[in-house]
Amino acid sequence: MMTEISLNVLDIANNSIRAGAGLIEITVQIQRDRDALTIIITDDGCGMTPEQLKSVEDPFFTTRTTRRIGLGVPFFKMAALSTEGSFKIDSTPGSGTTITAVFGLTHIDRMPLGDMNSTIHTLITLNTHIDFLYTYSFDGNQFTLDTREFRQVLGDVPLNSPEVSAYIKEYLTENQNEADGGYHI
Ligand SMILES: Nc1ncnc2c1ncn2[C@@H]1O[C@H](COP(=O)(O)OP(=O)(O)OP(=O)(O)O)[C@@H](O)[C@H]1O
Ligand SMILES: [Mg+2]
Repeated sequence: MMTEISLNVLDIANNSIRAGAGLIEITVQIQRDRDALTIIITDDGCGMTPEQLKSVEDPFFTTRTTRRIGLGVPFFKMAALSTEGSFKIDSTPGSGTTITAVFGLTHIDRMPLGDMNSTIHTLITLNTHIDFLYTYSFDGNQFTLDTREFRQVLGDVPLNSPEVSAYIKEYLTENQNEADGGYHI
């Protein structure tokens, strides 16, 4: 079983990639005054019909042919609900999907956030044809990483070239530090 929220996010974003998304938006929002850690993942992929949506939270539903049981979504839901949080999926066939999970920030059963920067870095450098908009917000201090902006500056240099890959890593680390002062989540 997954032990970090960042690994859940990697799995949920991989669903978006399999759904043919061109843009994936990932938001991580920490609000200490609300005791909340909110994760929002939005894609412009194929979406799901109401019937699919109903069964997607059931572990015995999957459209994969290699393996019968899909566990990514049910696990993420269970992880959020077990912290007295909430979970919701909004999806429209042909236009995309949004998954919102709220965790009780200080709830004893909340998994650690884990290395979200590695998740974002991995997603970007392994899927250079997809755009990512990452937003990290800590008590209202926030930063974003938008691969569309990076592309404008980079021109033909790919996002997975060694220099750019290293730069993305640094960008994430430095900006997160600036936003949360190294607070352990
Ligand atoms: N963003 C999405 N867009 C369209 N369909 C989705 C999306 N997320 C999930 N689905 C559908 O829901 C199913 C279940 O997803 P889930 O992550 O729970 O399992 P899985 O991806 O099939 O397997 P696993 O994550 O365990 O490798 C997927 O197979 C897919 O059909
Ligand atoms: Mg999955």
